[in-house]
Amino acid sequence: MVLIRQAQIWDIAESKVTSEKNYWNRRRFLKTLAGAGMAASIAPLTACSNRSSSAKTALEATLNLPEIDSFRKNPAFANLQRPITDRKLAGQYNNFYEFGGTKTIWIDAQKLPTENWQVEVTGLVKNPRTYDIDQLKKEFPLEQRIYRFRCVEAWSMVLPWIGFPMQKLLAAVEPSPKAKFVRFTSFYDPEITKGPGFHIGSLPWPYTEGLRIEEMANELAFFAVGIYGSELPKQHGAPLRMVIPWKYGFKGAKSIVKIEFVEEQPATYWNTIDSREYDFEANVNPSKPHPRWSQATEKFISTGPGLSWDIKETLPYNGYGEYVASLYS
Ligand code: MTE
Repeated sequence: MVLIRQAQIWDIAESKVTSEKNYWNRRRFLKTLAGAGMAASIAPLTACSNRSSSAKTALEATLNLPEIDSFRKNPAFANLQRPITDRKLAGQYNNFYEFGGTKTIWIDAQKLPTENWQVEVTGLVKNPRTYDIDQLKKEFPLEQRIYRFRCVEAWSMVLPWIGFPMQKLLAAVEPSPKAKFVRFTSFYDPEITKGPGFHIGSLPWPYTEGLRIEEMANELAFFAVGIYGSELPKQHGAPLRMVIPWKYGFKGAKSIVKIEFVEEQPATYWNTIDSREYDFEANVNPSKPHPRWSQATEKFISTGPGLSWDIKETLPYNGYGEYVASLYS
């Protein structure tokens, strides 16, 4: 997510992003890997209006998934006074570094094998359990929540997730009083994913994220199994991902296979790569600049199908202070 340069991240053309092979040295490579990926995630917006019709059809195919027939629309998370981001923009504007750092991640991510998906819940809990994804969907009633989504790179969207509050899982597995943190691990198989970090064994794969247990217990913390009324597309982190709307987007690990309750703060992917740029807490905060850019405003991807930026003031906790500020007092 980092690149040494003068321009804002959204000004970087993909062709200007330095290639992996020129930065074999680990430290420089890490900077490049991260920057390349993030810059690439910006690039599709400028490119999307030129997409060929076959690419459009291919994109549609990745998004046209079975509808989720039974969920309630949670009225508490319905009206954000901002339009919902176009489904196709959101579906081609992704980060999923396991599959690479290019602007074609929505294509590469289709390699993700989602059949017979299981999620292991383990560690300091009374009721450890391995769930089939269908069991999870049946056991925890599904609801739709329209949340703001804010990337650390200062772009933002509004997305209609379908899923269930993390609180429900906590109630089912009953963490022990010793459990202070939770580690979430994403799917990783180097034979399948072959992302840009694959050739450098020292990158901290698999992708992991972590929360304090009180954060996981907050009513906003959410597991998504769907978006826009349908099952989650692979590029969005099928079949189960984290959505933590008051934190920067990198905290929302995709394609979760393991949830582990632990005593100590766990090492996480981006924080291990660069703790100064990606702190563990990572709450959206307009008055705390990223080391290389301001977080005071954001570029809101307002409508679709073409690109339309709208500069907005960044809100503390991404506008969710009434729910979460007390966690940090
Ligand atoms: N989870 C995994 N496993 N791998 C990733 O590369 N990228 C993160 C987060 N979760 C990432 C991940 C980042 S940097 C962002 S901004 C969001 O996913 C992007 O989510 P989206 O692609 O659904 O918009």
